[in-house]
Amino acid sequence: MSNERKILVTSALPYANGPIHLGHLVEYIQTDIWVRFQKQRGNTCTYVCADDAHGTPIMLKADQMGITPQQLIDKVSEEHQRDFAGFMVNFDNYYSTHSEENREFASLIYTRLRDAGHIAKRTITQAYDPEKEMFLPDRFIKGECPKCGAADQYGDSCEACGATYSPTELKNAYSAVSGAKPIEKDSEHYFFKLENFEEFLQGWVDTHVQSQMKHKLNEWFESGLQQWDISRDAPYWGFEIPDAPGKYFYVWLDAPIGYMASFKNWADKNGVNFDEYWAKDSDAELYHFIGKDIAYFHTLFWPAELHGAGFRTPTGVFCHGFLTVNGQKMSKSRGTFIMAETYLNHLKPEYLRYYFAAKLGSGIDDIDLSLDDFRLRVNADLVNKVVNIASRCAGFIVKKFDGQLADELAEPALYAEAVAAGTSIAEAYEKREYARAMREIMALADKANQYIDAAQPWVLAKQEGMEAQVQACCSMGINLFRVILNYLAPVLPEVAKQGAAFLNIDDQSWDAIQTPLRNHKINKFKPLMQRVEPEQIEKVIEDSKQNLQAAQANAPAKKQSLEPIADEISFDDFAKVDLRVVRIAKAEHVEGADKLLRLTLDLGEGERNVFAGIKSAYAPEELEGKLTVMVANLAPRKMKFGMSEGMVLAAGPGGKDLWILEPHSGAQPGMRIK
Ligand code: 2FM
Ligand code: ZN
Repeated sequence: MSNERKILVTSALPYANGPIHLGHLVEYIQTDIWVRFQKQRGNTCTYVCADDAHGTPIMLKADQMGITPQQLIDKVSEEHQRDFAGFMVNFDNYYSTHSEENREFASLIYTRLRDAGHIAKRTITQAYDPEKEMFLPDRFIKGECPKCGAADQYGDSCEACGATYSPTELKNAYSAVSGAKPIEKDSEHYFFKLENFEEFLQGWVDTHVQSQMKHKLNEWFESGLQQWDISRDAPYWGFEIPDAPGKYFYVWLDAPIGYMASFKNWADKNGVNFDEYWAKDSDAELYHFIGKDIAYFHTLFWPAELHGAGFRTPTGVFCHGFLTVNGQKMSKSRGTFIMAETYLNHLKPEYLRYYFAAKLGSGIDDIDLSLDDFRLRVNADLVNKVVNIASRCAGFIVKKFDGQLADELAEPALYAEAVAAGTSIAEAYEKREYARAMREIMALADKANQYIDAAQPWVLAKQEGMEAQVQACCSMGINLFRVILNYLAPVLPEVAKQGAAFLNIDDQSWDAIQTPLRNHKINKFKPLMQRVEPEQIEKVIEDSKQNLQAAQANAPAKKQSLEPIADEISFDDFAKVDLRVVRIAKAEHVEGADKLLRLTLDLGEGERNVFAGIKSAYAPEELEGKLTVMVANLAPRKMKFGMSEGMVLAAGPGGKDLWILEPHSGAQPGMRIK
């Protein structure tokens, strides 16, 4: 075909240190639908991905697990590929950034950039763990927040008060790796001179990123493009820089190059010329699907690196938003931090593929998986609307006409209308406006059902001499079903495949529906999809909560400096403490307070007002109605925000990891704890 496009598509490379969860899947499902659509249209479209296998977190995790980084990344790669296959994400190649191809491309790009004067060297001072003998990334330095004093905060921001700062500002800093006090140490680093590409990037950005992202990019241009530190000192799990022994490429340098490496690996296996896709004058299209959080790397560093090293640049970088579940950030304690594997243990992948499609637009807005809406929508649209068309018609055709469809369409105009709708649906897929595509497809399904409602084959079937009419209207229904199924094939690949077996067809290319099925034999109908039941969703939530408990039980104990035990008290002192069960009647934010929540506690007889420093661990609505334990006879204390009449008991290292004590649910407010 002369107008056939050559397209290379990527999704972001997931880190090889953790499992795939539903948040990741928004992107892989979004990309996979687009790729399947392109293939269905007859374009040559190749979809590559890989595990992002380098960096300090992976090195340290392997260390913690007592295995080599290679063993860790091999194990994770297998799990990732299993989960992606489970969700029908159909990569042409899934590789690893820890590959020979990637080492070669990373070295080549670096060398070309260096020779063209785009690399600078200078000495910088960084935190160093003298016990573990390694430089510490900000995330591996902990200490007390310089603003609010909260303990065990990370080196870049405080979870208790939200302040951001540099790790050198932390008080009583310690290495999260060994617990040692970090020292400062100098080392020479290599920098990519991004500022050399300002003019090029200004032009590139104008036509290759979404309009919503352009505003963000303009802010970056206005605040000035900074040089990018691309080197890390040994010990580091990654590729050594060719002319700098003991220095390694920072994981983010070789990660996007992993797109090229995965493609090269596939191209070599399939006799495809790499340069046709990556040379400066390539006429192939190149698209990267990513989350909006990694736009800086993909819309500035990456095109600049490619341009500087003499390769082609991306045709488009498509950013998407984040996933929320039931309107909130995914939460381990609520059971909404759902792993791909956990979901698949109870629910079919195509439900989620459809639901995401029904929600996705081309922009960067976050999308919400509301679990009730998910169930209702899948049942209403896919089971009651789409599959129903086939199940209402198939029985008559198979039983009464031996599977034979009529010679002619009963309503050619209606069929033509359904085929014509394909132009707008294709345009919606192409522009990643899947929500619009799904709406238009469901409108067709409504029309098909209305047609069957009006034709009433079940009434005709009881009347003598109406056989031809029954066959005609059911054949028409089956033909409309086939068109709708074809449109849904990028989203529901397995349903489309089973539907093809039922329809006895093998061509599901986009244009196949131009020719209706006439005088054609279909097979016995088997239900293509079951309803989603509330219990299935409940099980996913329950299992997700259990995963959290298992992970906590298995987590290696963190080496932390515990607070010293306080001075001994007598039994009589202790006996004075009156601990009571209370119900949290109300929990509210306190204006101006970073850490405190105001709790109204029901003591069985009367209420107390208590300020508790648990804001970083609990949202107010999570607390209301819960039972907890308070010191009921503590003298009231005047605090900045009002009187505090007692104290609730909580335990944990601090920040998010803080738990109020929760007595058995049979306890009553006012009960004394002994
Ligand atoms: O943010 C992430 O999860 C990175 N592992 C994505 C890398 S995408 C590409 F650049 F490799
Ligand atoms: Zn703080």
